[in-house]
Amino acid sequence: MEKLSSDTALELLIKDVIHNKKELEIQKNRWVKHCIFVAIAAGRIARKLNLDEDYANALGYIHDIGRKISHNNHPVLGYKYMIENGYEKDARSCLTHSFIDNDINLTAGPLPTDEAYEIISEYLANTELTIYDNIIQMCDLFCLETGFTTVERRLLDITKRKGVYPHSLKHFESALALKERLENQMGCSLYSLFPEIKPEILAATESDRQKLIELLQSPELMKPEEPNNSGKALK
Ligand SMILES: [Fe+2]
Repeated sequence: MEKLSSDTALELLIKDVIHNKKELEIQKNRWVKHCIFVAIAAGRIARKLNLDEDYANALGYIHDIGRKISHNNHPVLGYKYMIENGYEKDARSCLTHSFIDNDINLTAGPLPTDEAYEIISEYLANTELTIYDNIIQMCDLFCLETGFTTVERRLLDITKRKGVYPHSLKHFESALALKERLENQMGCSLYSLFPEIKPEILAATESDRQKLIELLQSPELMKPEEPNNSGKALK
């Protein structure tokens, strides 16, 4: 099987979901637009790092492809979907994109539950992350369905929607560390590659960071880890 191309990845992404441009604007399909922005962002970072831009685009398109089937458990569903379509090697970004440093606890929002937790943690334990995995993880952290933003603004949005968990602050810190590592590799700031980010959002980075840290440390907002995983979390 040849390497997944961006054209094939986009075809797989929109197949049976988007039939015309209008459908891209429907609320339930907003995740597809997020994938398109992740693909664009990943390609730009890959180009800066002299990597395969088209391949980075492709992985960006498919990283959330499991959402075609269900939003719950989408990493595992996406992984299986890509394998069923003959892309076993490239299916990885469906599973790795949400977990920084291959740590299942370093994720935004709640931890995966039950069976998914077992499948993902076993996969991560036996998988070495590539630079492409890192790029997709990074892009997922500053791409909305409307375009590019800062990590702080994106995580504020996710936190408001999904809540605060005991692992959330550590996830935020690891997201910033990942950003710094990539910036060192690129020799430039991440946001300098994305002039589309509004100046007022960039200017608010520090205050957003303070707001986010405050939220992530509020005991009254803290949700418990999923009961089934409570013994496994934050090991
Ligand atoms: Fe995503």
